[in-house]
Amino acid sequence: MGEIVFKYEVAKHDFSKAGEASSGIKKILRQLGIPSQLIKLIAVATYEAEMNIIIHSQGGTLSLIITPERIKVMAKDTGPGIANIELAMKAGFSTASPEIREMGFGAGMGLPNMKRCADEFQIVSSLGQSTEITMVMNIQ
Ligand SMILES: Nc1ncnc2c1ncn2[C@@H]1O[C@H](COP(=O)(O)OP(=O)(O)OP(=O)(O)O)[C@@H](O)[C@H]1O
Ligand SMILES: [Mg+2]
Repeated sequence: MGEIVFKYEVAKHDFSKAGEASSGIKKILRQLGIPSQLIKLIAVATYEAEMNIIIHSQGGTLSLIITPERIKVMAKDTGPGIANIELAMKAGFSTASPEIREMGFGAGMGLPNMKRCADEFQIVSSLGQSTEITMVMNIQ
C-alpha cells in the first residue's frame, strides 16, 4: 500500500554507465521531495552498491522501494558471491585489481560506507552464490 518501486539493471564491467542508476535514484528522490540530507546518504549507498555490482559481480539489479516512512534499497547480483563477509566489510579490504585501482576504485570503503549510510543494513552472500544487500533508510 502506497509503495513506489524502481528497478535498475546494472551490467558487469560497464563503466560507460557507471553511476547511472544511482544518479537516476537521486533525481527521483529530489522529485519526491525527500530531505536533501537523506538523499545524500542514499546517493552514496546506492553508488557504492552500483559500483560493486559493476566491478565485482556478474551483473545485477538495484531496486528502490519507497513508502512514506522509509526507503528500502536492494542490490542483488548473480554472483560470484563473497567468501568471507566479515573480511569484506572491513574498511580497507579490497580484492580490486591494479587496473580497477588505477580508475580510482578499490579503497575497500564501499561496504563500510553503505553500512554507515543506512539505518538497517543486511548482506547475504557466500562463495558461488548471489550477493544481496538490503538497506533501509528511515524518513524522519
Ligand atoms: N557484489 C559483490 N560481489 C562479489 N564481491 C563483492 C561484491 N561487493 C563487494 N565484494 C567484495 O568485497 C570487497 C570489499 O568491497 P568494498 O565495496 O568495501 O571495497 P572495494 O569495492 O574493493 O573498494 P571501493 O568500494 O572503496 O572502491 C571487494 O573488494 C570484493 O572483494
Ligand atoms: Mg566497492
